[in-house]
Amino acid sequence: MNKDLLGIGDLTRDEIYAILDTAEAMREIGQRAIKKVPTLRGKTIVNLFYEPSTRTRTSFEIAEKRLSADTLNIAAAQSSVLKGETLADTALTIEAMQPDMIVLRHASSGAGHLLSRICRSRIINAGDGTHEHPTQALLDAFTIREHKKRIEGLKVTIVGDLLHSRVLRSNAILLTALGAHVWICGPSTLVPAGIDRLGVRVSTIVDEAVADADVIMMLRIQQERMHGAFLPSLREYFVTFGMTAARVARAKPDVIIMHPGPMNRGVEIASEVADGPYSVILEQVANGVAVRMAVLYMLGGGQDGD
Ligand code: CP
Repeated sequence: MNKDLLGIGDLTRDEIYAILDTAEAMREIGQRAIKKVPTLRGKTIVNLFYEPSTRTRTSFEIAEKRLSADTLNIAAAQSSVLKGETLADTALTIEAMQPDMIVLRHASSGAGHLLSRICRSRIINAGDGTHEHPTQALLDAFTIREHKKRIEGLKVTIVGDLLHSRVLRSNAILLTALGAHVWICGPSTLVPAGIDRLGVRVSTIVDEAVADADVIMMLRIQQERMHGAFLPSLREYFVTFGMTAARVARAKPDVIIMHPGPMNRGVEIASEVADGPYSVILEQVANGVAVRMAVLYMLGGGQDGD
């Protein structure tokens, strides 16, 4: 593997499958009475989060602890960032204390690439602006493969705020690389220009996009990144694009419903769907620990890690 994991493009198809296979073994560790192995003993990992996170930060920390790494968390709100320190200066300050890996979440697309250039530590992108969220796509692929036993040939429909979604970009790159037929759907104001170059099919009609889908993945409306009038109203958005039981009924009978979280219930997804029989949303969260353990192992302690 490369030194860093900044985006799905850093991984070959074989490496993606190796991570998914390793995650199967890592999940077993989480089912033991003592959920700990010595794989990363003596390694130091810094979780540097400039944006809020519940799932990603927590699951990275649990994954690091299960692999016996020494971990510490830096949240921008409690750091010298508030005194005006730049990302580069913060990173070099952390580097001076000799960590082995830095897990970075940042509002700017490409923030991980900046750290990759200036840091000796391995950098894992935990979400950079609207660019990529590679470990989310890996855990999504793991969850899909677990339910469908394959990814190739599946119709995966991704609905929501496409323009602001790093989850969309990482999933579109990963799932098309593994042979899925990826449809994306949202209002035309939220379709990124040139997104079809990723090999996805674009639709603005949700009933068409979800028809016969094997997987429906909902994306959050990211109001915090909207600095213009992208939607007439959230109520109208739900009426036109919200995932309801009636819309789910157009998909395959064994469809699974995914959402990376956090959800806006009643905006992009109805509670009857989020909590319904096809939902695997909490399984995604659980799988995030195993997949992040696999990524940490392969970057820091696996065969190619050192
Ligand atoms: N899916 C995801 O990245 O969630 P958090 O923002 O809670 O980490």
